[in-house]
Amino acid sequence: SRTQVAIVGAGPAGLLLGQLLHKAGIDAVIIERVSADYVLGRIRAGILEQVSVDLLDEAGVGTRMHAEGLVHGGVELMWDGRRHRVDLNKYSGGQNVMVYGQTEVTQDLMQARAAAGLSTIYEARNTAVHDFDTARPYVTWDKDGQSYRLDCDFIAGCDGFHGVCRASAPRSAITEYEKVYPFGWLGLLADTPPVNDELVYINSPRGFALCSQRSKTRSRYYLQVPLTHHVEDWSDDAFWQELRLRLDDEGRERLVTGPSLEKSIAPLRSFVTEPLRFGRMFLAGDAGHIVPPTGAKGLNLATTDVKYLCNALVEFYRDKSEAGIDDYSRKCLGRIWRAERFSWWLTQLMHRFPHDEQITAKFQHAELDYLTHSEAGLRTIAENYVGLPLDFAE
Ligand code: FAD
Ligand code: DHB
Repeated sequence: SRTQVAIVGAGPAGLLLGQLLHKAGIDAVIIERVSADYVLGRIRAGILEQVSVDLLDEAGVGTRMHAEGLVHGGVELMWDGRRHRVDLNKYSGGQNVMVYGQTEVTQDLMQARAAAGLSTIYEARNTAVHDFDTARPYVTWDKDGQSYRLDCDFIAGCDGFHGVCRASAPRSAITEYEKVYPFGWLGLLADTPPVNDELVYINSPRGFALCSQRSKTRSRYYLQVPLTHHVEDWSDDAFWQELRLRLDDEGRERLVTGPSLEKSIAPLRSFVTEPLRFGRMFLAGDAGHIVPPTGAKGLNLATTDVKYLCNALVEFYRDKSEAGIDDYSRKCLGRIWRAERFSWWLTQLMHRFPHDEQITAKFQHAELDYLTHSEAGLRTIAENYVGLPLDFAE
């Protein structure tokens, strides 16, 4: 069979690209390794920047997000046992973020895709990408004991960090920049009211903690843990006890605990691939770059990559111009490196590192004091947290 764009991976990047291309009248087929339920079961990001909200609207899947998502105009930082609210709205010139889980975004996109009768192949094994250095690339996979081949004009590698697309790019054409952090985040999801109306990022002597949420009745909490820890060794009680120790008195009083719906450990990594285009194959989202989760940029970078890619493909088909696809890497990487820098900076500002000297925490506290008592400091946090505009620095 044949399509215009073969999309590998049905995470948020692949599904959003499929929807945006559909709106633009471009055919695409999505090939995904696991089942739809498996994709929906992965608890990941929770915060959408305004640009992501706008893109989901543009894709025609924003109705439930606007009904159920929570608009947050501020965020709290805690260090040395004190809290400081950053008025994101005020210091970003009127922007906010939206609390709406990646699971919900994915579900809305899957539903829209099914409603439009668009093709997604789930549980495809041994996916492989071929001949993307020519004008006739194709994708192959196995399913239910049969082999399949899909011819296409372009391949969109939306298959995440462990996907096949980046791994198939010629090693001589690719540069990978990477930093691995010496700790992970242990996350817990529970049907309990969040400890605070807004998110709280905590720099504590016992390590970083984050109080996030999915709704008024569902909390998401994270604890910095050593890489040697295993999720099986963390009982719910141990988690709640450790979180209490990292909170302030007000937090300890307000914290409502309950059984976990999900618990998992994610490693922290900064990673960027250059370039993001190899002939007729493009990388988008986690396939091309990873940020440490501090600052919630991962999902938001995936949505903006896909927007740039969709624009480039529209230019190719409608205007018969390759200028857009030629410029795809450069355009994405500008935005990616800014988000990479912010995520790395906020990570080192808020976490305890294994061999920190005593003075390091003092430097962190002084920097947080400075930032939250300076108009310039508050702006630098706010404009990065709400996210840079799509056309930033063009
Ligand atoms: P993915 O969501 O990874 O989707 C890629 C898809 O490709 C998957 O469905 C995968 O099954 C499929 N695939 C892989 N290989 C193949 C193949 N060979 N053939 C076909 N399909 C394939 N971000 C935040 O902002 N906040 C968070 O709290 C947060 N937590 C995270 C926790 C974890 C454990 C991880 C891994 C990421 C987290 N992120 C978080 C980052 C955020 O979830 C990602 O940036 C986002 O999912 C990127 O979307 P994507 O579509 O590019 O990749
Ligand atoms: C969430 C994750 C983040 O990394 C973050 O900075 C904010 C919120 C979350 O999963 O809710």
